Amino acid sequence: MSETVIGPAMSRAPKQIPSIPGVSAPDPCTIVIFGATGDLAARKLLPALYGLWHGELLPSQFAIVAVGRRDKTDDEFRNEAQDSISKFRHGAPKSADGWPQFLSHLFYHKADFTTAEGMQGLAQRLDQIDGQLNLPANRLFYLATDPEYFGPAVERLHGAGLVRREPLRPWSRVVIEKPFGRDLATALALDHHVLRYLNHDQVYRIDHYLGKETVQNLLAFRFGNAIFEPLLTREYVDHVQSTTAETVGIEDRRGAFYDNAGALRDVVQNHMLQLLALVAMDPPATLRASDVGLAKLNVLRSLVPIRGDDVDKYVVRGQYGPGLVDGKQVPGYRQEVAIAPDSVTEPYVALRAKIENWRWAGVPFLLRTGKRMPRRVTEIAIQFKLPPLRLFQTVECEGDVCDLREAQPTVLAFRIQPNEGISLSFSAKRPGMQFVLHGVRFDFNYSDYFRCELPEAYERLLLDALRGDATLFMRSDELHAAWDFCDPILEAWKKKPPADFPNYAAGTWGPKEADKLLAGCAAKWREP
Ligand code: BG6
Repeated sequence: MSETVIGPAMSRAPKQIPSIPGVSAPDPCTIVIFGATGDLAARKLLPALYGLWHGELLPSQFAIVAVGRRDKTDDEFRNEAQDSISKFRHGAPKSADGWPQFLSHLFYHKADFTTAEGMQGLAQRLDQIDGQLNLPANRLFYLATDPEYFGPAVERLHGAGLVRREPLRPWSRVVIEKPFGRDLATALALDHHVLRYLNHDQVYRIDHYLGKETVQNLLAFRFGNAIFEPLLTREYVDHVQSTTAETVGIEDRRGAFYDNAGALRDVVQNHMLQLLALVAMDPPATLRASDVGLAKLNVLRSLVPIRGDDVDKYVVRGQYGPGLVDGKQVPGYRQEVAIAPDSVTEPYVALRAKIENWRWAGVPFLLRTGKRMPRRVTEIAIQFKLPPLRLFQTVECEGDVCDLREAQPTVLAFRIQPNEGISLSFSAKRPGMQFVLHGVRFDFNYSDYFRCELPEAYERLLLDALRGDATLFMRSDELHAAWDFCDPILEAWKKKPPADFPNYAAGTWGPKEADKLLAGCAAKWREP
């Protein structure tokens, strides 16, 4: 491995990252997208497929078949796909010349896939495309529809003979978008239904955070280096803060869905608990899907449920009123499109979780997510305990005024997005005649060290699903454990609607009340 220097100096950065031998290319196949005229397909899936094709990571023989209810010809769909990809993917060709080859792999099929006839029609069309492109009927079905169609779609796919448990070749796999259920009971029911028609290893439950390069790097940092891992225990760690903040409010097309979900279901149950599991888990036996899944599951199962009166103590929900974000006046949550004017849904939640296991007992894990916050940032900060003996003081300056204060704790922060990187803040002796400390930082920035764009999360996950690698997908028992943690909070909230919504102004870091969650920790909420 080549050595790189920690710090902003760029003198030894590698010029090019060599491609890794042994990464298998996917088999010739067809990718079928249900819900292909929706937002996710336009913003993420089609640009990601284009990116894979452009990076020569798709097989030379492939087809992408978009299934929707609207009337559309292949050509109309190809034009729309070109527009979306140009809008949402960096580096998409500007001129018409770059497009025909990729677009020739795209097809549109109109069908009501909730009916047997609709799915039969799709089966015939897929056979015809296989014949036309000489494809071997390996198929990846991507369910990017409204969640209520996940179960029926799998059942109809099976009815039309499009998914089979056997034979293993040609293969058929199904990617299911989030939300996977809206509580434990519905998640179990969906799993039960889906697994009547598919084997476990044919179901890919996606959480796009797991495809982010910086999230995968949590594993690399923790288990690819020997020196940090021994410190990540209750002996050294004071607390962990995980923040997923967004500046956006509720996009018009999502209002109805979001108002029925809220931040706990939309972000905590999946993205944030997955991040927590990756930060807190023990080393997996191998990097195989089953071993990584098991290591994460052990963390999720060790989360202490927050129920009854404890919900008021350890969980704070919030809803924004009007305010200023990026200098622009924005409406309050209740004034967003398709949101009920008296909605009690929470676009903000903060909570203090406990992981009751050997490694973490007694260490608070503080999770916070919200829309319309001052900055878009996802980070996990591990704050270490102060030294047992305070020999030093530090100098803190605000403007021209400097003050002597207690030494500051060491913080290891993983910046998941944006400005991707890792920093370690610690104390150093300030030059001078006295022994006082000053806060300094080791900083690793992806942009300094790796002179390439970070791969898009959906590119990585689509590629893995095409290759049959489920390591970065969620196992059903992980999902169930995550719902197990969230359900009692949702129940307590249902019994006691919030009396004070809206309780923070858009463009601020959320309700003041969340400060109480840090009781006993040597810190405030970070403002990353
Ligand atoms: C989605 C949520 O899963 O993640 C959205 O449904 C949220 O509400 C989004 O905005 C955030 O993803 P990212 O990758 O922009 O952090």
